[in-house]
Amino acid sequence: MDNRIWSAEEEAIIATNTEATECKRCAVELGYWKDDYIGYFAKHVDRKAPEINRGYYARVKGVEMFIHQFLERCDTKCQIINLGCGFDTLYWRLKDTTQAVGNFIELDFPAVTAKKAHIIKRNKALLEKICNEDGEVVIREGDLHSDGYHLVGCDLRCLTDVKRKLSVAAAGAPTLVLAECVLVYLRSDAADALLRHLAAAFPRCVLLTYEQCSLDDKFGEVMARNLRGRGVAAPGRSHALGPADGAARLQTLGWGRARAWDMVAVWRALPDEDRARVERLEMLDERELLTQLNSHYALAVATTCDLFADMDLNA
Ligand SMILES: C[S@@+](CC[C@H](N)C(=O)[O-])C[C@H]1O[C@@H](n2cnc3c(N)ncnc32)[C@H](O)[C@@H]1O
Repeated sequence: MDNRIWSAEEEAIIATNTEATECKRCAVELGYWKDDYIGYFAKHVDRKAPEINRGYYARVKGVEMFIHQFLERCDTKCQIINLGCGFDTLYWRLKDTTQAVGNFIELDFPAVTAKKAHIIKRNKALLEKICNEDGEVVIREGDLHSDGYHLVGCDLRCLTDVKRKLSVAAAGAPTLVLAECVLVYLRSDAADALLRHLAAAFPRCVLLTYEQCSLDDKFGEVMARNLRGRGVAAPGRSHALGPADGAARLQTLGWGRARAWDMVAVWRALPDEDRARVERLEMLDERELLTQLNSHYALAVATTCDLFADMDLNA
């Protein structure tokens, strides 16, 4: 049981997971992509604006593209560490493909992981995909463990906590660390310490981040103001950087090779037929709205190992 009292800001950060899950469910319902599991985590959702749905489509497809590239370069002994996982359904979606992951570790505040564990335990379709051969999952210190899936409560700002919870990870295994809209909620010094630690701890690792970028213009100011309006502090200075400078920053934190693209580039890199299909799903009158939004988010790929050096947007 997690008896911690959360500060107003932490409550606001935790609420961002509800928003992300609802946006993903809305886009799935409209046919942007297939996700048989998101409905267990968000029941009823209001319709979101077309540019939001398309932005989420590019985010989910961009992340998937790099995850598939990572898995193609690994055998089944690889692992994925999902930082600030929220109610992400990636584990279950991958289970329905042929690309096996040996170990999948999800971290978030205990308030979030406890709710996620509760939903998993109540829904057979989720539970049956994480059970050990004897049909068991183990709950230890409020965390959920099975042979290849671990859902652990932890504050990413506390490295001691992170290190302890990541004891279920194998340091030498090929590892993908995913941070999807998470680092923006950490102060820059805490995010730097976390990323530096992960680079040192996992020598065969890919870091995949999807985060805000280029927030030092008018539109960025509005995004930061919106966050503050919801009780979340201003993003750290690293989010003011453009994609190239953001990638260079990752290199200073121990990631030997790093590249980043804004979501305008990611959107363009999606297969033409996929883009055409989603563009037919709903009208978007003001296309520049999507471009503006996409130019303030970036995907970055950084590696500690040559095995992953050729991962690329157009690979
Ligand atoms: C916007 S949600 C994104 C969730 C998920 N990654 C996705 O893209 O659907 C941000 C998540 O990061 C988590 N988070 C933010 N700061 C955290 C911290 N210090 N420790 C653990 N989790 C944190 C929040 O609780 C929330 O679930």
